[in-house]
Amino acid sequence: MELSITTKLSDHLTPKPAADTELGFGQIFTDHMFTMDYSRESGWHSPQIVPYTSLELDPSTIYLHYGQAVFDGLKAYRTPDGSINLFRPMLHLERINTSSKRMVIPPIDPAFCLKCLKELLQVEKDWVPDRPGCSLYIRPFIVAMDPCLIVRPSVTYRFFIILSPCGSYYPQGMNPVSIFVETEYVRAARGGSGQAKTPANYAASLIAQNKAKTAGCVQVLWLDSVHRRYIEEIGSMNAFFVIDGKLVTPELNDSILPGITRRTVLELARDMGFRCEERQIAIDELCHLAKQGHVSEMFGSGTAAVISPVGELRYQSERIVFNQGKTGKVTQLFYDTITGIQYGRTPDPYGWTEKV
Ligand code: COI
Repeated sequence: MELSITTKLSDHLTPKPAADTELGFGQIFTDHMFTMDYSRESGWHSPQIVPYTSLELDPSTIYLHYGQAVFDGLKAYRTPDGSINLFRPMLHLERINTSSKRMVIPPIDPAFCLKCLKELLQVEKDWVPDRPGCSLYIRPFIVAMDPCLIVRPSVTYRFFIILSPCGSYYPQGMNPVSIFVETEYVRAARGGSGQAKTPANYAASLIAQNKAKTAGCVQVLWLDSVHRRYIEEIGSMNAFFVIDGKLVTPELNDSILPGITRRTVLELARDMGFRCEERQIAIDELCHLAKQGHVSEMFGSGTAAVISPVGELRYQSERIVFNQGKTGKVTQLFYDTITGIQYGRTPDPYGWTEKV
């Protein structure tokens, strides 16, 4: 029998951000959130929409010490007719279960959680921005709740969905960025948790992100943990190259996150008639090809930034510049096509969007 969702509305609604507020990313939150609890006896239970509030956690909560948690991220978009689109929401909710499997967290029912998300969005519909380039970022996450310092899987969990009106993830927006090729630290190792959207991967990335900033770069290009040679990801995005007109991206393995925007780019590209390759790309091969003029564009793909052009790579003492540091045609094409579908400006022949 399907659970029924209870709703308790807030008495104090926050004013929506003024039209000229710089929304940035992940800094403003809406008035309500969704929560649901898990216990061994009852499974997932007590789904509720409640006022957004701070949490009271026992200081020994497993999540705080050992990081047993997963998250995902998707967006709600205001369309020209005023309705609200979600983009491939089931893929995001199903990916939570893939991440949870790796982190020994019980699976959710993606279809039920989509229903809960839509109910939360109905309550918060006025928070979906209608300004160009803005959207409502949706952050579902699950944390281990047992108060216990033994290293073992928790038996209680809480699932949350919080919402945040946002602009672009990078202050640079769609302008090409400089990327630092990290040769010392790795984001994730083979057999590790790189394939899962779990906080540890992001915490482990921060030290190299600081190195990149010191070098005047915006993000890190991650290499594989075994050889420090094969390209894996850029920051928290998947990596794409245009090599001799062909779209090339690292093939997935258990240290690369299977991005939904990555999948969207590949599906669109194949449909548009691009030749696509998912394969290992060594950094030395890339440098060699770039020097010979074979690599015309590089970009990152992710939910937050959608498509982010790379102007140059800094690899040891080398600087590899793509398309004279300007956004290339292919990068722009994917950005325009994907955002056009997401915001309902162009038809969606693939059925990727879903109305709230
Ligand atoms: C994404 O863009 O898909 C991300 O994971 C970014 C998020 C960590 C803010």
